[in-house]
Amino acid sequence: MRAAASGADPDVGASTSSVAGIADSPDDTVEFFDTTLRDGEQSPGATLHLADKLLLAHQLARLGVDVIEAGFPASSPGDFEAVRRIAREVEGPMITGLARATRSDIDAVHGAVREAARPLIHVFISVSDLHITHKLGLDRPTVTARTAEAIAYAKTLCDAVEFSPEDAGRADPDYLCEVVQAAVDAGATVVNIPDTTGYCLPLEFSALVAAVRREVRGMDRVLTSVHCHDDLGLATANSLAGIAAGARRVEGCINGLGERAGNAAIEEVVMALRVRRPVLHLSDHLRTEELVPTSRMVERLTGIPVPPNKPVVGANAFAHASGVHQHGVLRDRRTYEIMSAADVGADGTRIVLTARSGRHALRHRLDQLGVRLPADSFQACWERFLQVADTAKAVDDADLAAIAQAVLAETAAVEPAPVAPSL
Ligand code: KIV
Ligand code: ZN
Repeated sequence: MRAAASGADPDVGASTSSVAGIADSPDDTVEFFDTTLRDGEQSPGATLHLADKLLLAHQLARLGVDVIEAGFPASSPGDFEAVRRIAREVEGPMITGLARATRSDIDAVHGAVREAARPLIHVFISVSDLHITHKLGLDRPTVTARTAEAIAYAKTLCDAVEFSPEDAGRADPDYLCEVVQAAVDAGATVVNIPDTTGYCLPLEFSALVAAVRREVRGMDRVLTSVHCHDDLGLATANSLAGIAAGARRVEGCINGLGERAGNAAIEEVVMALRVRRPVLHLSDHLRTEELVPTSRMVERLTGIPVPPNKPVVGANAFAHASGVHQHGVLRDRRTYEIMSAADVGADGTRIVLTARSGRHALRHRLDQLGVRLPADSFQACWERFLQVADTAKAVDDADLAAIAQAVLAETAAVEPAPVAPSL
C-alpha cells in the first residue's frame, strides 16, 4: 500500500477522539478521482490542449491520484486523442473518460481508454425531475431503462464501469435509489453520487449517501464515490459528509476548478483527512508534498489564478502578518499552523512584515538577513520601519536593508562594517 501519513502535526489540537462510524477498519482508505482534466477543464477559460493535458496527467500520477478522468472523448476529436494518449502513456492511476448514457458516447470512451493498464468507463444520466423533464425531455421509466441499457453495454466493453446519477442532490431519494439499483443490477462497479449543483447541506448529503448505501441491494459490493460542487462553498464539507456516510472515493479538482464555482478541491479534502486523521482514521494514497507543485502547474496551464487565501495551496496559506500571530509562530509554528508547509510542498512558514507586525518579527527578519544593529539602535529602526510600513502594503527585504542603512548612518556607535547586506 502506498499510504503516506504525513500532514498531521502532532499535538496541534486537543480533540483526538474518534467520530463513531467513520472508518470501518483502522486502515480504511479513501481514493481520489481527479477530474481536473474533465470537470475542471469545463471551467470557463480553462480549456487545455493535448500537450498540456499530458503534462498535467503525468503530474497527477506523481501526486498519486487513484483515478484520472482525462476528458469527455465524444465531445471533440481533440479530446478523444488527449484521453487516448493519456491512457497509453500515463502509468499508475486508472484512466477514465465521461460518457452520456448512449452507445456512441460509451464507444468513444472505450476507444480512448482501452490501452490503459486499468481502464474505467464513466456513464452518467440525470435523475432529478427538473433535469429529466426540462433538460432531457424524458420521463423516469425511460431514464431507468436507459441507465440499465447503458451500463450493461459498457460492461460488455470494460470490467470497471462507474455510474453517476446526475443532479442526485436535488433528486427524489426514492427514485435515486431505483435508478442506482438498475445500474448496480446491470453491473456497475462504482456508484458516484453527484451534488451537481452544489445544493445540499452536509447533513442532507450524508443522509442521501447513507440512504443509497442502505436501500440499494448489492451496494456492499460496489465502491461508493461522491462528486460535490461548490456553489454554496460546501463542496469540501459535503465530500467529508459523504465519506462519513461510507463513501470511499472522492471526486474533485486541483485548485477546486470545475463548472461554475467549481468542484471539491482535492488539496482541501486530503489535508482534512490527514490533519484530522486521529479522529477520522482514514488513509489515502496521495503524496501530499506534490500538492503545491500540482496546483502551480494547474494555475499556469489554465491561466486561472489561485487566490492567495486558498486553503493549503494559496500564497498566504503559511504566511503570518500580524504581530500577535508572528510572535506565536516564531516561538512554535504550531500555535497558528495546523499542518506544515513541507507536507504540502509549500516553501515554508512566511513572516510578512506589515504595519501590523511586531518587534519580534522585525528582529527575527533582521537576524535572518544578517543585519547587526547596536542594541540602542533597534528602537530607531523600529520607528522608521513603522513609518514605511504605514504607507506600504508590506516591507520587503530591500526596504529593510535601506531602513537599517539609514539608521546606522545616523548612529554614532557603529559596529564594524558592513552591517547591513546589500540586497
Ligand atoms: O457534476 C456532475 O454531476 C458531473 C457528473 C458527470 C459526474 O460532473
Ligand atoms: Zn461535476
